[in-house]
Amino acid sequence: MSDLLVVGSGFFGLTIAERAAHAGKKVTVIERRSHIGGNAYSEIEPTTGIEVHQYGAHLFHTSNKTVWDYVNRFTTFTNYSHRVYSTHAGRVFALPVNLHTINQFFDAAYTPDEARSLIKEQAGEYDVDSARNFYEKGIALVGRPLFEAFFAHYTAKQWQTSPEKLSGDIVSRLPVRYNYDNRYFNDTYEGLPTDGYTAWIERMADHPNIEVRLDTDFFDLTQPWSKESAVGQVPVVYTGPVDRYFDYSEGELSWRTLDFEQEILPVRDFQGTPVMNYPDADVPYTRIHEFKHFHPERATAHASDQTVIMREFSRFADRDDEPYYPVNTADDRAALLSYRQRAANEPNVYFGGRLGTYKYLDMHMAIGSALSLWRNELADSI
Ligand code: FAD
Ligand code: NA
Repeated sequence: MSDLLVVGSGFFGLTIAERAAHAGKKVTVIERRSHIGGNAYSEIEPTTGIEVHQYGAHLFHTSNKTVWDYVNRFTTFTNYSHRVYSTHAGRVFALPVNLHTINQFFDAAYTPDEARSLIKEQAGEYDVDSARNFYEKGIALVGRPLFEAFFAHYTAKQWQTSPEKLSGDIVSRLPVRYNYDNRYFNDTYEGLPTDGYTAWIERMADHPNIEVRLDTDFFDLTQPWSKESAVGQVPVVYTGPVDRYFDYSEGELSWRTLDFEQEILPVRDFQGTPVMNYPDADVPYTRIHEFKHFHPERATAHASDQTVIMREFSRFADRDDEPYYPVNTADDRAALLSYRQRAANEPNVYFGGRLGTYKYLDMHMAIGSALSLWRNELADSI
């Protein structure tokens, strides 16, 4: 008999399981997929030796010292720091939009103040407060030239919706930096797990008190850890979709998903950088990942004459698709409130993680909120 059932083996579920096992509790983790780790899972592509993040590129970064100390129990990190470029109208630009981008784009050598006043003037076409949609708001924030080049169509491709039909609410500020800093993240700590994501994840689950059952769905009545047999019998931490738990009684929450097209190419280096964005309307994908560049320190382990790339396409998710990003419409928010009330009344079931709370969570946020749930609620009650 277990002291705790964890549904889902992403970073939220694994953090709870690891803490409970460490405290001497017996934990069962069930996972619907045939591997642990949730969306952070990765594999070494066998012909090239290159680590491929199966569910999209995962970059670890945090400013939370507690989380950083915790994750360093299981893995060390490389000194990788994330940078992204953008191919627009046949030319390559630096991202996030910064003084280099502005000077490339306007073919100029503006100082920070000159660039600031140029963008301010271009942004005067619309007013942020009265902007009626994403298109007007974007122009009000960064001006028409930069908005149309780097944001309008990129965002439209992410949402499969034209910029005029997207709500202004999806953006509060479009980042423009008036210096040459092109580091993507501003966090104190950043890096990639030295031995890969899967080694990290496996170390978290590697404890005699943890039993992992793969290919096991909480809603499958024929397995011993189903919702029907577990709830009320054993404390449950549930990290699957909250609407699914309640059989969609308050409506289906909407998500965007991604499709990935992976290709092995017979070239040493395809694009010279890990991530290239494609913000133009006539290119169907949003970006291309080239995985060998995430680990330059592994160069001797990588095929020298081949590379792995992944094109990323974005669309709305059906019930059978992987849910990746909450759409968060007004209907979604109303349904979520009802689900939260039902969740609060569910005896000894704790809803957590990205799917269980209908919130996009980076890895460090999922780990941080699991550590809080453990410390504040579970440690003294199970
Ligand atoms: P998940 O990782 O989604 O894990 C939930 C698990 O529950 C899954 O394994 C699922 O199979 C399982 N499950 C669901 N239902 C059931 C059921 N009925 N029975 C059994 N098991 C079930 N984070 C970063 O920090 N940096 C990044 O660059 C980054 N990039 C991302 C890119 C994409 C495309 C996505 C989707 C996420 C990205 N993330 C990134 C976030 C990260 O992948 C995790 O989503 C985050 O760590 C939250 O983890 P989680 O445990 O809440 O959820
Ligand atoms: Na303005």
